[in-house]
Amino acid sequence: MKHSRRDLFRLAPAAGTWALMAQALKAAPGDPRPDNEDYWRLVKRQFPLKEDLVYLNAANVCPASRGVMDRHLEFLRDFHANPSFQNRDKYEPLAERVRGKIAAQLRVTADEIALTRNTSEATNTVVQGIDLKAGDEILLTDHNHPSNNDSWKVRAKRDGLVINSLPVPVPAPSGEALYDAFAKAVTPRTRVITITHLTNTTGILYPARQIAELARRHGIWMHLDGAQTWGALDLNLRETGCDSYAGSAHKWPMGPLEAGLLYVRAERIPRIWPAIVSAGWSEKLAGARKLEVFGQRDNPRMVAVEAAVDFLNLVGMANVEARMRALATRAKQKLSETGGVRLKTNMEPHLSGGVVKFDLAKPELKPAYDALYSQHGLGIAMTASGDARGLRFSPHIYNTMDEIDRAVAAVKEVAS
Ligand SMILES: Cc1ncc(COP(=O)(O)O)c(C=O)c1O
Repeated sequence: MKHSRRDLFRLAPAAGTWALMAQALKAAPGDPRPDNEDYWRLVKRQFPLKEDLVYLNAANVCPASRGVMDRHLEFLRDFHANPSFQNRDKYEPLAERVRGKIAAQLRVTADEIALTRNTSEATNTVVQGIDLKAGDEILLTDHNHPSNNDSWKVRAKRDGLVINSLPVPVPAPSGEALYDAFAKAVTPRTRVITITHLTNTTGILYPARQIAELARRHGIWMHLDGAQTWGALDLNLRETGCDSYAGSAHKWPMGPLEAGLLYVRAERIPRIWPAIVSAGWSEKLAGARKLEVFGQRDNPRMVAVEAAVDFLNLVGMANVEARMRALATRAKQKLSETGGVRLKTNMEPHLSGGVVKFDLAKPELKPAYDALYSQHGLGIAMTASGDARGLRFSPHIYNTMDEIDRAVAAVKEVAS
């Protein structure tokens, strides 16, 4: 049966199958331009989000679309209906397909991708896996996530490494200033520079390419925590030039929970040891595959990441980034015009992305945070104290401009 465009628009969310969702998005009214609300409303309808919730916390966890969930469920049903070795054989080529699609999305090769359980595990694989000796220096920032901060401190304590942690200016004065702080801090003993590509704390987008070039000139390993950029920005890791990059499928890629990736640049793969070795591990495993043999994996979840990458590709990664930026920019503009609100995130696109942080002129944030959820239905994040103190919006493609306006109006109410 052939569906008209109108039928597809109506049917897709209810039917919830991948094929219908794909058809609906392909037949959607107009292009996925950032300002085409009709298109993005259709995207929103692919998600199971509650009607009365304005969910603005992509930086933490994203919902999966119905189509992605359905494909995940199909694998789960298949696995549990027939857990025999014979039936499970197919998961290996399926995992290879996921690896290939992630690699293509990040513009690197499949051999450079390990399928991990999240960003934390991927980063810790680097922390534990590189040969370092007493006196070697690790250069990082005060705003690194604990998985890329405390993890290094633990290793430093064990092996006598020296941690040099740079403060993060809020907001960032310029890309040059961010770069210069690293250039000045490099010493002949620096072995690793490890930063957050886009910080979850105040939303700064670091000049990763320039810092990677600096690292390359000095023979330093450059690791990038991509928890806030995979699935949000249209990336080219080859051009970025980092040695390793970590990401989580359950954040901006809108994939299954507890699935992630570690990219290691081909030339660096021989220099990294696996942190975990189990059945199936062998010296002969090609490329970064040696870093993902953790024992029995959740095969259905691992291969369901393919659906998340397919969904991003269906919309187009450049369109995803443009829309996400349009939503974040609207939020930043409106928040900066709101009394009692101080925007902490930069406005400039080359210094920011989808994370929007702002503080209120109130001694305590918790009452406002609680009221935003209980009275206005806003699912957001809060940092209670410190230089990253504030409330955080992180909108994604399932949000509408109207939701941004409602969220800012709610902030105005609690800020006054
Ligand atoms: C910058 C950054 N790195 C790492 C992580 C950890 O991600 P996961 O819990 O998926 O490992 C987060 C989580 O919010 C994050 O924001």
